[in-house]
Amino acid sequence: MLVDEKPMRTIWPGEDGRTVEVIDQTKLPHALEVVRLASVEDAAVAIETMMVRGAPLIGATAAYGMALALSADPSDEGLDAARSRLAATRPTAVNLRWALDETIDAVGLLPVSTRADAAWKLAARICDDDVAICSSIGDHGLPLIEEIWERKGRQGVVNILTHCNAGWLATVDWGTATAPIYKAQAAGIPLHVWVDETRPRNQGAGLTAWELEHGGVPYALIVDNAGGHLMQHGMVDLCIVGSDRTTATGDVANKIGTYLKALAAHDNGVPFYVALPSPTIDWTKRDGLAEIPIEERSPDEVTRITGRTDGGETVTVRLAPEGAAAANYGFDVTPARLVTGLITERGCCEASEEGLKSLFPDST
Ligand code: MRU
Repeated sequence: MLVDEKPMRTIWPGEDGRTVEVIDQTKLPHALEVVRLASVEDAAVAIETMMVRGAPLIGATAAYGMALALSADPSDEGLDAARSRLAATRPTAVNLRWALDETIDAVGLLPVSTRADAAWKLAARICDDDVAICSSIGDHGLPLIEEIWERKGRQGVVNILTHCNAGWLATVDWGTATAPIYKAQAAGIPLHVWVDETRPRNQGAGLTAWELEHGGVPYALIVDNAGGHLMQHGMVDLCIVGSDRTTATGDVANKIGTYLKALAAHDNGVPFYVALPSPTIDWTKRDGLAEIPIEERSPDEVTRITGRTDGGETVTVRLAPEGAAAANYGFDVTPARLVTGLITERGCCEASEEGLKSLFPDST
């Protein structure tokens, strides 16, 4: 996407051909800083600390992490160690495991001397594919927005609610949930996006708002608890969220709070769509609630909050009493029955095994 008129992705190979550069998302929205990753450990730490985050971008970073690892040690032991280190970084987004498996499949049987080169090429291809996939998700999501615009008699604006950041910052470019929004904007449909702040890490406030601001898409930031009220008052035409892992039966794990938005949408007859690239589908899982591992993060993220003072200083302050106990579940599962439809690179389908199989008949 364009940032201050300049096209930008979230991750790209360094000019030296041996490093990778990423946007440090922990610094947004207050500063746009680029960080260089020079080793598999750098890549693992970037994922762990959420310098890079969002399921597709985690996968892309893991692929480059494998390339960095193989440049240093292309042996079988090096391959295994890199896979284990990267796989342990975050548990919920299945794109991570997918990218690691893709790399092992592509390089595992190659002569040791050619592995690194093949892994670098694969990582670049995974990134380019992600851009094309997300653009297609936008193309397939656009008619949903067009339909609402027509139904409203081309009056007013189409109000879309989104949760967390499933925007271009969560992918290599375009985003998943935001791709239909950017395509609708380009098609001249007047839009307004309700952006959930998305506690505890505020990816909505810090990242989605930053993205939409730069993209010129009208939006309003809302507290996480406001969505139900807006839906009850007819102020949301459509919800679109992302996914970190979708089961073969259409259950969706996404940022904590997604389930509550789906419940409110269901109660109010608001269409609730999930936009996802096929590497986010975990064909080995059938019951999202029972089988998808949910990340638990530091209680500090709940008891404290970080922001920038008017004087330009970034500070972290305590919200809760000293010693307060806190629990921090990063994701929840929205059962398929609450999902109106899935938007994928191959088209839209019902959130069900039949729906997914109709688009991806050969996947297992
Ligand atoms: O914890 P995060 O910021 O990695 O969580 C991101 C999300 O929940 C996104 O909605 C999801 O990864 C889909 S990204 C296209």
